[in-house]
Amino acid sequence: MPAGKPQVQDYIRTIVDFPHEGILFRDVTTLFADPRGFRMAIDQLLHPYAGVQFDKVIGLEARGFILGGAVAHQLSAGFVPIRKKGKLPGAVIAEEYTLEYGEAVVEIHDDAIQPGEKVLIVDDLLATGGTAEAGIKLIERLGGEIIGCAFIVDLPELGGRKKLEAMGMDIHVLCE
Ligand code: PRP
Ligand code: ADE
Repeated sequence: MPAGKPQVQDYIRTIVDFPHEGILFRDVTTLFADPRGFRMAIDQLLHPYAGVQFDKVIGLEARGFILGGAVAHQLSAGFVPIRKKGKLPGAVIAEEYTLEYGEAVVEIHDDAIQPGEKVLIVDDLLATGGTAEAGIKLIERLGGEIIGCAFIVDLPELGGRKKLEAMGMDIHVLCE
């Protein structure tokens, strides 16, 4: 930990070659495990949205659930999970996507968002933007109004932020 007041990025560790050779995995479990780090992360995720009334916070599996629950509580909003294929019990809609190290399908319950509801998307990390893009498409198919997308970490070299901004999204990240 560097000298001085720790910043969010100081609590995040890097695991080399996980889950595949060549990937530098930015591990936020060390941030979540630290009482000051976790509070700082939630407070900073919320910062741009002071005074905004949200209906739903959307968490992207899996680390977005941990952040999204805390953020939804602070905003007095509901929490809605977007999950990997086959995990949600009710009727779902689905989107396929590719990510830094594979391909996947994400799903949302088809009654989880009502048309016109104001939503905030939350996840730990933005890499290629594939996961968030799929989530955005799901929310838009249900008629949700996406006010913002908030992430702890952006990996700018993978282009996710540019991709989401080109879709008209307002992106908030705590560190690169
Ligand atoms: C990670 C991360 C984001 C996604 C970002 O999740 O938590 O959700 O990858 O990558 P992208 O911008 O290239 O889509 P992962 O798919 O590893 O799933 P997990 O949280 O369930 O482990
Ligand atoms: N998701 C996609 N790429 C990642 C990375 N480098 N570290 C952590 N999560 C990721």
